[in-house]
Amino acid sequence: MRRAVCPGSFDPVTNGHIDIIARTSELFDEVVVAIGVNKAKSSARLFSADERIAMLELACAAYPNVSVAGFDGLLTTFCEANGIKAIVKGLRAVSDFDYELQMAQMNSSLVDVETIFIPTSPEYSFLASSLVKEVATFGGDVSRLVPPFVLTRLTERLAERRAAAEEAGP
Ligand code: PNS
Repeated sequence: MRRAVCPGSFDPVTNGHIDIIARTSELFDEVVVAIGVNKAKSSARLFSADERIAMLELACAAYPNVSVAGFDGLLTTFCEANGIKAIVKGLRAVSDFDYELQMAQMNSSLVDVETIFIPTSPEYSFLASSLVKEVATFGGDVSRLVPPFVLTRLTERLAERRAAAEEAGP
């Protein structure tokens, strides 16, 4: 059984993530989409782990060999615990490569796991959850970048944040 993990923060899941997950599901028997903590991005998080899992479960419902899980701690610990030997990451541009290569080498130094890079489809090469959040915060149209149910949750969450900020005052 060939099993792979697609790890990420998914805050929130975008059409670019779904493209990589769908293409990975064609290559492996089983794919686990694993929601982890990126310490560098923790303070900018918009959705809880449970909320991100719920959105990903909807996003992956069309792919029978894909499941969704959360994990704490190291990705390599998750891989070992789940018998996973392949980590699949999307690469948008050369600028992604430096950090991804470093993580891939660190991960393979820790456990017996390979990282496989899949080039992002050109239509999503500019797409990042952080940019989606920023554009949506300032009223930009992100409807072509995320699934409709993510757009709804995003719009609701940003409205909640705005209301809380107004209530807190200057
Ligand atoms: O979508 P992101 O933010 O690029 O995802 C990064 C993530 C969560 C996959 C990465 O930060 C990660 O694997 N975190 C778990 C902790 C870990 O294993 N750190 C060591 C990486 S070499």
